[in-house]
Amino acid sequence: MFQLDDDQQALADAVAGFCQETLAPTVKEDDEAERFRRELFTAMGEQGFLGVPTSEEYGGLGLGYTEYCVVLEEIAKVSSSYAVTVAVNGLPQIILSMYGTEAQKAEWLPKLASGEALGGFALSEPESGSDAGSLKTTAEKRGDTYVLNGTKFWITHGGVADVYIIMARTGGPGPKGVSAFILPGDAPGLSFGKKEEKMGMRASPTVELVLEDVVLPAENLIREEGFGFTVAMAALDSGRITIGATAVGLAQAALDYAGAYALERKQFNKPIIDFQGVGFMLADMAMKTETARLLVHKAAWLRDQGQPYSDIAAMAKCTATDAAMAVTTDAVQVLGGYGYTREHPVERYMRDAKVMQIVEGTNQIQRLVIARHLKRKYSAGA
Ligand code: CAA
Repeated sequence: MFQLDDDQQALADAVAGFCQETLAPTVKEDDEAERFRRELFTAMGEQGFLGVPTSEEYGGLGLGYTEYCVVLEEIAKVSSSYAVTVAVNGLPQIILSMYGTEAQKAEWLPKLASGEALGGFALSEPESGSDAGSLKTTAEKRGDTYVLNGTKFWITHGGVADVYIIMARTGGPGPKGVSAFILPGDAPGLSFGKKEEKMGMRASPTVELVLEDVVLPAENLIREEGFGFTVAMAALDSGRITIGATAVGLAQAALDYAGAYALERKQFNKPIIDFQGVGFMLADMAMKTETARLLVHKAAWLRDQGQPYSDIAAMAKCTATDAAMAVTTDAVQVLGGYGYTREHPVERYMRDAKVMQIVEGTNQIQRLVIARHLKRKYSAGA
């Protein structure tokens, strides 16, 4: 099923070339400085990498998730932080493409797809992470407006985004009381708390959002009140494919680096790749990476075909990010003492991989989603 065609390969080559030339020189320094460069985001927009599946009518490339995964994998081979930037900037595009009004799409999609605007997604809160349906941020209807109050945690692009899709409570407790809104980054009453000091993904800013009487016009509501949890879950179904693709790129980079090192590095008068202990480790790393890629592309293909993909997206995210964690950890092991130092990128790969088992739903939540699908399937007698 999985073989890139000529156009997809050309796209992969173009992204790889851009990343080597433009992103690669900044990666080590920005990891150390925890620096996000808006100009790199803008440059990716100029190349067309930011709106791959968004329709051409709204300034995107109008391609499928398969191509989106190809782009993300290539970016992640160089910088998983910027792959996450592209994936998270994609979430508002997915949401508005699926559920936005004509006016909402026309206002935001061309800007997000071109890089003129940077997007974010605000669901998690200090006391609601995995249990997203228990969120406490409120949106109170007052005339033709909604007034938002609350705190959002771990928000990628917090403080630097131009627009967020934010989930807030308009009704009673639980998922049915949640609504989704378009929140401009410069809305009065929106401020930003602490920027997290993170183990990895350090070029991707993660910041607390504080909402104090933020007034939004009613036309910023997405669809209708009570529809916000569906919006969030549907976006995450798609987002989990993109996190999977990012993890595949990271795992491939770690495998490539460790493989090249094992060929060069000699101990006991031969390359260490010729020792079964190392060769088999590389073989396992290659199997995990290939398996993850196939599953990610299956999820992308299902989505592109308009078939149900929620369970396969959860499998892809879980498999790929667990693979990235295992492969990057083994890459450090292959390099031995060198692998543990900042002289080589594998220690960064390992730090970057860890958070991927957590974001866009922990891998425990992915297993819960898959188990619920299985329960429904077997209850229906399938
Ligand atoms: N698509 C559409 N609708 C869905 C859905 C989906 N994938 N999943 C659930 N729903 C609907 C259900 O059908 C249900 O509606 P009905 O009652 O009408 O059938 C409603 O939503 C509630 O569903 P559940 O009863 O399954 O809800 P739950 O409270 O048990 O939660 C959960 C389910 C899967 C655990 C969910 O809370 C979840 O995914 N949690 C993880 C949250 C998460 O991924 N957070 C990451 C935030 S973003 C991030 O990390 C990074 C970043 O910066 C962007």
